[in-house]
Amino acid sequence: MDRTILVTGGAGYIGSHTCVALLEAGFSVVVADNLMNSKREVLTRIESMTGKHVPFYCIDVGDPSALNRVFSEQPIDAVIHFAGLKAVGESVKKPTWYYRNNLDATLSVLQCMEAHDVRVLVFSSSATVYQNPDSPVAETAPLGCTNPYGWTKLMSERMITDFVTAHPDFSAINLRYFNPIGAHPSGKIGEDPNGIPNNLLPYISKVSVGKLERLHVFGNDYDTPDGTGVRDYIHVMDLAEGHIAALEYAFRKTGVEAINLGTGRGFSVLEIVNAYEKASGVKIPYVIDPRRAGDIATLYADANKAKTILGWESKYSIFDMCASTYHWQTQNPNGYDGVEE
Ligand code: NAD
Ligand code: UFG
Repeated sequence: MDRTILVTGGAGYIGSHTCVALLEAGFSVVVADNLMNSKREVLTRIESMTGKHVPFYCIDVGDPSALNRVFSEQPIDAVIHFAGLKAVGESVKKPTWYYRNNLDATLSVLQCMEAHDVRVLVFSSSATVYQNPDSPVAETAPLGCTNPYGWTKLMSERMITDFVTAHPDFSAINLRYFNPIGAHPSGKIGEDPNGIPNNLLPYISKVSVGKLERLHVFGNDYDTPDGTGVRDYIHVMDLAEGHIAALEYAFRKTGVEAINLGTGRGFSVLEIVNAYEKASGVKIPYVIDPRRAGDIATLYADANKAKTILGWESKYSIFDMCASTYHWQTQNPNGYDGVEE
């Protein structure tokens, strides 16, 4: 059956890869995004990669009347809600902006779903909702955040849970992502952060093409095998498939679930540097700097719930993640910049 999925934030990094995966799996896709952290060119690429038309609404998802128009004009069966601001450090400096943007967006999605009787939701949450986690971290671990961004995710999860409790015929999945990296193997879409990247892979990737001089490794005195931080990096294509598995599951049931999307394996910063050098053939110079405030030593998922409930598990290796990042970076040295809008 042809189902239509509204993808909020569909022009962004994870959203664009998920749109391609949805279209290839036979879903129809409608995108709502105000392009505050993405480019219209992404939509053109999604359409040329898949040969499918994607209706696009350039709106603030947090504006219920604008979003309501999308629900009125399109035959929406489910929503995948990616739209949100996502930089931890920025959220500490501009908390009101983060709470306003991210919470209004989730509320507006829920209100429109209620008004139009659209009963299936998949939401982008984050492993940042776990409080002092011991890895591997399962969905049952205690929750709590250390920054406004994280709180917007935990509060959105709460809003969604209360909403589904009030509407027992509805179905929602809160997906808690670990560290998404990599790009589509075609090199046509990928991660395109503004300015100097905060995250490890986008930073290494800029070093690999000479746009930044060297990587700064934030601490080598953690209680980990080589002293550098350990994280659960997951290929964005695996993540995209995880959304389809979650969507199909959500169509079959009612109620709300939180599910980790990770590989269940941790890699240190230096292991990532090593893997990237092998995948790209380029040397990545680095220096050891002091620890970054707020970082923890180790975080990786217990990925069993996704496997048991969704029948999903990650397929791609760290080598694949690094190789696809390098391919995207070399094919698009300036990201989507410089492309005619
Ligand atoms: P992204 O910034 O590339 O994509 C988010 C998209 O949402 C952008 O295209 C942006 O323009 C749009 N957007 C933001 N606020 C909007 C609003 N009010 N109205 C309409 N559009 C709006 O980020 P991403 O990495 O693709 O992340 C997608 C989601 O996954 C976010 O909710 C993020 O918090 C979550 N997440 C990301 C990571 C990660 O490491 N990338 C980890 C955990 C969770
Ligand atoms: N790191 C460096 N140098 C850099 C950037 C990062 O050494 O230039 C290290 C960090 O100290 C950490 C690891 O690389 O040990 C990963 O750091 P990232 O910034 O790439 O990712 P985080 O794990 O800190 O956070 C990411 C997202 C959050 C999300 C979290 C969920 O940025 O939004 O994953 O697990 F909440």
